[in-house]
Amino acid sequence: MDELLFQPTTIGAMAVRNRIAMAPLTRARASAEGVPSPLAIDYYRQRAEAGLIIAEATNISRQGRGYALTPGIYTDAQVEAWRRVTDAVHGAGGRMVLQLWHVGRFSHVSLQEGGAAPVAPSAIQAGEQTFLGTGFDRPSPPRALETDEIPGIIEDYVAAATRARAAGFDGVEVHSANCYLLDQFIRDSTNRRTDRYGGTVENRTRLTFEVCEAVAAAIGADRVGVRLSPITRSAGDTPFDSDPQGTYGYLAARLGTLRLAYLHCVEGQTRADNGAAHFDFQALRKAFGGAYIANNGYTRALALEAIAQGKADMVAFGQPFIANPDLVERLRRDAPLATAPREAFYGGGAKGYVDFPKLDGAPA
Ligand SMILES: Cc1cc2nc3c(=O)[nH]c(=O)nc-3n(C[C@H](O)[C@H](O)[C@H](O)COP(=O)(O)O)c2cc1C
Repeated sequence: MDELLFQPTTIGAMAVRNRIAMAPLTRARASAEGVPSPLAIDYYRQRAEAGLIIAEATNISRQGRGYALTPGIYTDAQVEAWRRVTDAVHGAGGRMVLQLWHVGRFSHVSLQEGGAAPVAPSAIQAGEQTFLGTGFDRPSPPRALETDEIPGIIEDYVAAATRARAAGFDGVEVHSANCYLLDQFIRDSTNRRTDRYGGTVENRTRLTFEVCEAVAAAIGADRVGVRLSPITRSAGDTPFDSDPQGTYGYLAARLGTLRLAYLHCVEGQTRADNGAAHFDFQALRKAFGGAYIANNGYTRALALEAIAQGKADMVAFGQPFIANPDLVERLRRDAPLATAPREAFYGGGAKGYVDFPKLDGAPA
């Protein structure tokens, strides 16, 4: 099969063997201390045929945690556990970046040091539910970050990126999507600040820009990607920015000046129709000017077309990678895809995680 989707390319500093990325997928199987499960070694190795694995969202700090059993990259034990994962993926010929996460207001006092309030651009409580390990609860009322705390947050991203490299990752993806901390700053619906991080589009996009700039300075711009989701509402709660096209278009152009490895866009609402029709993602791609990874609801046919027409450099698949460890091979052969039961998405052990067979029925 000689379609471009299956051909190698280069994304920043990374030579990838095909143009299929594994989208970041939270699976909530880490320890209470945020150490990745040993099962993650097999899970990611089984999927190393992807040109690029974007590992699940990973907390940059204790403060950045919003969901129980998600991994972190702020302790030595976490770095060591991740090192075993990246070794396995590299051993299988894959490439892997780590998604850097701070949830902002999507946290709960029970997950914070000393029961502290979660932090956010503004003190506006989120309406949806967060996972606490034993059950779900509404995120706690957040407090607005002081302006002089922001350099410390940027430092946490830099430290996390540096640790990610020490753990063997080929690079990082700055998670500025899905209504988490950085996206909360971008959207005027969640940012009511009056300092240099609020108000104008330039001010609201400043934190994402400064984080990417600082992380790029620390580990090299060609090892830093960034994820945006202009028309995602998270699980239905966070309102859009009042001008998504203008705001995210401006940000994409601004990020383009940093010559990052890639821009990765969630082109619509997760688990809903591909919303690309309502938003011009190609305008973002052009404003950014570098490699572009497209995601959300892509099928084999849509991916082949996007790559063949030059609308994307890679296509990221999320849910299809859960039940199809050999997704690349299945797409290559146009074989049927297995579907994963929803109960297996978050939490639990090996079942629904590392036990999906390959197409021929053999263990992955
Ligand atoms: C179980 C699950 C976990 C997810 N975790 C993350 C995550 O950690 N970080 C992120 O940016 N997106 C996350 N997403 C969104 C996916 O990366 C992706 O954008 C979405 O599933 C749409 O792509 P798809 O249609 O190919 O599945 C998650 C989605 C699912 C279904």
